[in-house]
Amino acid sequence: MTAVRAVEGTGPDAARVVAVARAADPDAPWGEGDFRRHAASEPRHLLLLAADAGADVAAAELGAIEAWDEPDGMWLWLWVLPGHHAGAGAVLWDAVAAHCARHGVTGLRTALPADLPDTLDLLTRHGFREVERQQRVTLPLGARPADPVPPAGITLVRLADDPGLLDGVLALDAECIPDIPGEEGATLLVPGRGWWEERLARGEFDARTIVGAVADGRAVAYTVLRHHRGRPDVADVDFTATLRAWRGRGLAALVKRACHAAAWDAGIREVRSWNDLGNAPMRAVNAALGFTRGPDVLQMRADAWT
Ligand SMILES: CC(C)(COP(=O)(O)OP(=O)(O)OC[C@H]1O[C@@H](n2cnc3c(N)ncnc32)[C@H](O)[C@@H]1OP(=O)(O)O)[C@@H](O)C(=O)NCCC(=O)NCCS
Repeated sequence: MTAVRAVEGTGPDAARVVAVARAADPDAPWGEGDFRRHAASEPRHLLLLAADAGADVAAAELGAIEAWDEPDGMWLWLWVLPGHHAGAGAVLWDAVAAHCARHGVTGLRTALPADLPDTLDLLTRHGFREVERQQRVTLPLGARPADPVPPAGITLVRLADDPGLLDGVLALDAECIPDIPGEEGATLLVPGRGWWEERLARGEFDARTIVGAVADGRAVAYTVLRHHRGRPDVADVDFTATLRAWRGRGLAALVKRACHAAAWDAGIREVRSWNDLGNAPMRAVNAALGFTRGPDVLQMRADAWT
């Protein structure tokens, strides 16, 4: 007998959702603190736990869509233990769909490692389709990386040391986000200052691990890591960008190297990155830096579901 119930992101049972997420996907980095952060930024936030014969076997989270300008949509995280897709997975899905109906949610997005075929099957049966495929790469930091030496005319700065770098980051985002290869026709969100300040205040971004390359007083490249409460030793590259006129001169590699040294100082021991398979320059940079590839990740969306 499967029972699904909503769990308070701030309550004691959120830890059980963390345990299910880890069991279903060992790379899931979220902890209770991340659920609290997600809930604080999204009034429609929902955390669900499904138990079968008293054992926790599946969980889901609905939160805000971050990278796309889709305010009527939500992001779905779905974790189902092997063997429970037809039972608990199906009941959990019904609860997700009911929540969406109650809140007028008209689109769902999710990301799924390609080595979870049962979850892929569950999502596909309910109307999800693959819209983009990304390579997932990781770089364990076995020791503190050396600080790179910038070429003449370039200075490396961390946001923690120079809050003015944020102005340059906003300009880089405006120029470079539309250049990210990916889903045809999708509108990526170009974040404003408030978006950045919110993430810094919540600890998702850390001013110590936002590194820019500055030439003639202007930021020409930068990279930023996203941190997780559930895995404080792991961080994900949220974005790396170089102004168009400055590309092909090694600046993305430079800011990333500097960021890895800064990340080590901030307690990070593994850096992970997701890159669209069509993003040849970013993939080349990560390969040269020693990142190794794991299972690909499918970006999926549903605009109507059953
Ligand atoms: C991806 C991006 C940050 C790279 O910046 P950059 O400063 O030009 O990168 P670098 O100069 O350090 O390195 C680029 C590498 O890609 C390689 N490259 C460029 N075009 C390539 C292609 N079509 N195929 C294969 N390799 C390519 C270059 O040869 C270089 O490698 P090398 O140093 O071994 O020669 C920049 O293109 C950008 O801002 N793109 C838009 C935003 C984006 O997609 N960001 C990443 C999303 S997470």
